[in-house]
Amino acid sequence: MSCILISGGFGYIGSHTATILSEKNHKYVIVDNFSNCKRDIVDKIRKITKNKVCYYECDIRDTQSLINIINENKVTSVIHFAALKSVSESLMNPFEYYEVNVNGTISLLRAMKLTGVKKFLFSSSAAVYGEPDFCPIDENHSLKPLNPYAQTKIIIESILKDIYEAEKNWSVVCLRYFNPIGAHKSGLIGDDPLSGKSANLMPEIIKVVKGIKDYLNVFGNDYPTPDGTGIRDYIHIMDLAEAHFKALDFIDKRNGISFFNIGTGKGVSVLELKKAFENVSGLNVSIKISNRRQGDCAVCYANPKKANVMLKWKSKYDLKQMCESSWKFANRN
Ligand SMILES: NC(=O)c1ccc[n+]([C@@H]2O[C@H](COP(=O)([O-])OP(=O)(O)OC[C@H]3O[C@@H](n4cnc5c(N)ncnc54)[C@H](O)[C@@H]3O)[C@@H](O)[C@H]2O)c1
Repeated sequence: MSCILISGGFGYIGSHTATILSEKNHKYVIVDNFSNCKRDIVDKIRKITKNKVCYYECDIRDTQSLINIINENKVTSVIHFAALKSVSESLMNPFEYYEVNVNGTISLLRAMKLTGVKKFLFSSSAAVYGEPDFCPIDENHSLKPLNPYAQTKIIIESILKDIYEAEKNWSVVCLRYFNPIGAHKSGLIGDDPLSGKSANLMPEIIKVVKGIKDYLNVFGNDYPTPDGTGIRDYIHIMDLAEAHFKALDFIDKRNGISFFNIGTGKGVSVLELKKAFENVSGLNVSIKISNRRQGDCAVCYANPKKANVMLKWKSKYDLKQMCESSWKFANRN
């Protein structure tokens, strides 16, 4: 039976993907160093999947341990989530970002090469496009990183292209995610970063309605958008998780390297998301307008047609469902 190694599988996207893989009877093993997740995530995944969770506490930069894990579990493919992901943190501490994201990926790829595993699914990001020249963005849009975080994703994509050029029996897919929000229907798992570690919009909104923060910082209301706030393509986390299941099927069937946008194709502003959340929760989200944040662009939403056609994947959930599941998660935790 094939076994999938999930690096960073206890993080936001990895944990939701693990529940889908379990539902589809895929065998997997998680490698995570717990640098950005809580320890109770193991129990929560076990509760949802009603299965034992096979995992190793391990840093992806530890190549020898990865080799041992791959051999012990007869790993056949890898989904690589483990990374540092804060744009603002990457501007303050680029060294750390290149060290974990780039060196960490090289370590994982080296372990794969030495064990003969050649199927690789990589978590890339819409951040690679920078300030878009056009929207919706398709995969041929030029790559223009605005910050070190985005640069690490571009470097890794280039490394993967070079590996495939040198060894044509690799099968690689890079999924360029847009903005995942929402939570698993159980309300047990969701976007649950270690305190102070994330500035993603939904966890920030939740902090305000839970009284942990006085207001939501809206970075810029002078963008050239209808309400002046930034527009993003918010995608339900379970839709994003499902894309991994489809992409695994894709890499199982062919060698090559492919890039896919994973988004809904719809742009939603910060104020629209805030309003949708207020409608669902019945609560008011106070805001404070601040200056634009370095490294942010005005509008960014996907053209997901390539993934719709080639991966046979399409987003199913709407903004209301994204807010409802986030709110349920916030109330259960
Ligand atoms: N969440 C988003 O908005 C978003 C958008 C685009 C792309 N991505 C990418 O998707 C991937 C997953 O994102 P996420 O939101 O689930 O992040 P996350 O921080 O919730 O999860 C990452 C997981 O990797 C682990 N990890 C970090 N460094 C590690 C290391 N050196 N060794 C082993 N484990 C390590 C963390 O403990 C965490 O559990 C990342 O590569 C991220 O860059 C995320």
